[in-house]
Amino acid sequence: MAKLIDGKAVSARLRQEMKAEVEALKEKGITPGLAVVLVGEDPASQVYVRNKIRACEELGIRSENHLLPADTTQEALLGLIEELNRREEVSGILVQLPLPRQIREEAVIAAIAPEKDVDAFHAQNVGRIVQGSYRFLPCTPAGVMELIRSTGVAVEGKECVVIGRSNIVGKPMAMLMLHQNATVTICHSRTQSLAETARRADILIVAIGKAKFVTAGMVKEGAVVIDVGMNRDENGKLCGDVDFASVEPKAGYITPVPGGVGPMTITMLMRNTITAAKLAGGLA
Ligand code: GUN
Repeated sequence: MAKLIDGKAVSARLRQEMKAEVEALKEKGITPGLAVVLVGEDPASQVYVRNKIRACEELGIRSENHLLPADTTQEALLGLIEELNRREEVSGILVQLPLPRQIREEAVIAAIAPEKDVDAFHAQNVGRIVQGSYRFLPCTPAGVMELIRSTGVAVEGKECVVIGRSNIVGKPMAMLMLHQNATVTICHSRTQSLAETARRADILIVAIGKAKFVTAGMVKEGAVVIDVGMNRDENGKLCGDVDFASVEPKAGYITPVPGGVGPMTITMLMRNTITAAKLAGGLA
C-alpha cells in the first residue's frame, strides 16, 4: 500500500512560512502584490482566479482582479499589461489561460515584464529554467518538486519518467528533475513504448490530461507516483490521470486527486509573487 502524499498539508506548512515572510517584508516597506487578469467567463477559470485571490488574502499579499469581457481585443489586453508592468505596487502579473480566440497567447506572454512573470511562461524565464539560472519556477512543476521533497525520497540518480510534454507542466517538469540529477525520459501521446518506459520509473509524473490513463501495469513496484491530472470520470467525479484504485496498492507514494498537486500550484504562485516583490525591492 502506498503512502499518500498530502498536498493540503505540505501546502499549509509552506503557506505558514510564507505568511511570516510577507510580514517581515512589510516591515521593510515591501508589500508583495499580485494582479490577476481574467478575460471572459470560463467557469473553471473563474474558480481558479477566485482561489488565487483568496490565497493572497490569507498570506497578506495585495491582490487586484481585472475581469475583462470575452470580446476584449488583444490590443486592449496588451494595453492593460503595459500599465501593470509600469505600476510599482504590482509585483506579479498573472493572465489566466486559456484566452479567447481573438487573442494570441504568445503575444500576451511576451508582453509581461519577465521580472513580473510569476507563471514563468516568458521566453526569458523559460530560458533561465533550461540554464538553471531561474528566479521563478513554473507553479505546477515547482509544487511537484515540493511534494517529492516531502517524501524524503532522493531524486539524484533515479529514473524519472514524465508523461506529457506541455509548456506549462511536462517540459519544465523534466528540466527541474534533470537539475536534481535524475535521469529523465519524457513520454507523450505518440510514444510507442509508453507502458514499458513508465514501468522503469522510480519517480513517475503524469500530466497527459486523460482520465485514469496510468494503470498498475505501467507502474514499478514502490514508485513515487505524482498525478498532475484533473479530469471528470464517467460519473462526473473529479479524478486524475492515474487510475488510483489500481495503482495505489503497487506504488510506494502516490498523490490523491483532489488534494495532491492541486493545492500546491497556488502556493507556488504565492511564492513567486513574494520573490518578484523581493526582486523589485533589491532583496533577491
Ligand atoms: N490555466 C491553467 N493553468 C494555468 C497556469 O498555471 N497559469 C495561468 N496563467 N493560466 C493557467
